[in-house]
Amino acid sequence: MKSIASAPAKIILFGEHFVVHGTMALLAAIDKRVTVTSTFTENKTIKVNSELGTIEVPISSSHEEVESEFRPFVYLANKMIASNQNVNGLEITINSDIPVGVGLGSSSACCVAAASSIFGLFKELSDSEILKMSIEAEKTIFPDLSGADLYVCAAGGIIGCEEDGDSFVYHSSTTSVSYEISANLVIVNSMIQHSTKRSVEKVRRFKENNEKRFSELCDLVTKLIGDPKDGGGGPGGALDNMKNNDIAALGLKMTENQKYLEEIQVSNDTLRDMISSLKEISLGTKITGAGDGGCIIALVEDKNLDKVPALLPKDKEYFSAKIDTRGVVWKIEK
Ligand code: PMV
Repeated sequence: MKSIASAPAKIILFGEHFVVHGTMALLAAIDKRVTVTSTFTENKTIKVNSELGTIEVPISSSHEEVESEFRPFVYLANKMIASNQNVNGLEITINSDIPVGVGLGSSSACCVAAASSIFGLFKELSDSEILKMSIEAEKTIFPDLSGADLYVCAAGGIIGCEEDGDSFVYHSSTTSVSYEISANLVIVNSMIQHSTKRSVEKVRRFKENNEKRFSELCDLVTKLIGDPKDGGGGPGGALDNMKNNDIAALGLKMTENQKYLEEIQVSNDTLRDMISSLKEISLGTKITGAGDGGCIIALVEDKNLDKVPALLPKDKEYFSAKIDTRGVVWKIEK
């Protein structure tokens, strides 16, 4: 029996970094996915196969004993085994078409798909159980992250995420298809892997040294997005622009958000060059994710899409992403 689950990659349309400090971020799931397949074995081991390599450790091993990229899988396997005494061994295989380390949520999608696949050997987890398990699993590598990625990888579509007191909530009202974006979301990969942890620490230092300005920037980001709690965004916010299909206004807000990301110093010359190379055809362009490398997103109308390759620096990869309204998808194969 195989338990197979897949989850989508993500982009951050607005609010990365500021979301770590309590503001809302607007995220979208995109049509690149990771698939995790789990099977029982008789080997008394936990085996994990991925493009990053293969590990096989005794079933009693703790996640802390393995290299960091394998920790979430061993953590989830341990949890599942602890609640089901008859398991001899497990094999977990990860197949992904999400580029790693460039801000497209590869690790979060893996954690979400793995939670659903591994526990799915016994029962279908509810959405909230998948989220709980995948949050715990991702914390084994990234203890300080906001968790926003996990919500959109699990739910799909476009969602707004923010902290609410001690917990983290997402506004499912914003998953509605009425928030479709009727222009192309062109993702360009700088081909520079980044460390989200280092960028998040850098921003924390910026905040400590510039308390007042940072708080102003948080307010500006909130205003850019609008408030999904009041029925789909306050007037003039990005949510409102999406609802009214005003892609020109949406693009301007992306460019505005990029200014804030420049100010908190998560951009660099490579990213600025990529952004400026698309200036004449893009309605708005910004970093997506932690920055300091990784990817940018540009909002490009159909009529300009074929101009993208000639404008971009030759060593960069790009693709046009579609919003994936499916979050985590699970099935059993006998
Ligand atoms: O790992 P990335 O590049 O997708 O960035 C995550 C987004 C941050 O806001 C920078 C961190 C977070 O936890 O939300």
